[in-house]
Amino acid sequence: MHIHPSILSADFANFEKEFETISSADAIHVDVMDGHFVPNLTFGLPVVRRLAEVTTLPLDIHLMIENVDELALAYSDLADGSVTFHQEASKDPIKLARRLREAEKRVGIAVKPGTSLELVLANLNEFDMVLVMTVEPGFGGQKFMAENLAKVSQAKEQIARLGLSVRLQVDGGIDETTICDAAAAGADTFVAGSSVFSKVDRNAQISQLRSTAMSHQRL
Ligand code: DX5
Ligand code: ZN
Repeated sequence: MHIHPSILSADFANFEKEFETISSADAIHVDVMDGHFVPNLTFGLPVVRRLAEVTTLPLDIHLMIENVDELALAYSDLADGSVTFHQEASKDPIKLARRLREAEKRVGIAVKPGTSLELVLANLNEFDMVLVMTVEPGFGGQKFMAENLAKVSQAKEQIARLGLSVRLQVDGGIDETTICDAAAAGADTFVAGSSVFSKVDRNAQISQLRSTAMSHQRL
């Protein structure tokens, strides 16, 4: 069970200090938004490069940008974790995944609420992680959309059937309540933004989320 705090809910003027408060995280979830793929803008390559320099934790980079075919590889060089892109943002998602893996990077494919799981299920062996969005991408602090957990279950079953070790991530509205159903559906990697950064003791919240997920995990 992996907990990845999303820095979308952190203090953007103090990332280095904020990272110190989430030292027990398994990775840091970095939401890159370009104002086109999603109606919000965060930061780009030069900022992510500095973020990578001020932490020893791996970066889990979530690209919500249009031109991933041109940019994903540059982000993956900074990740020491993984880079995840949305299938709609690539002209050829499988080709891009292969390019990233040839460069020995871990690659995730993200599925928005309105996006079918078809391409992912048919090509699971091409990815290291599947990210099922449980909110519309773009903003932190939104309400968890439980109906997306059907995709988590479906992916979990197919991963087990094929004997693959693909990670299953959920992102959006994850807190100490919603994480139970997400874990029970088969997720093993949990992005949590507002539910971690709103707490005074963030490491305590990370460990609470981790143990709650473990006690509900689908085997
Ligand atoms: C939304 C982002 C999420 C966001 C989650 O587009 O992908 O990573 O930070 O925030 P919470 O956990 O507050 O829903
Ligand atoms: Zn995200």
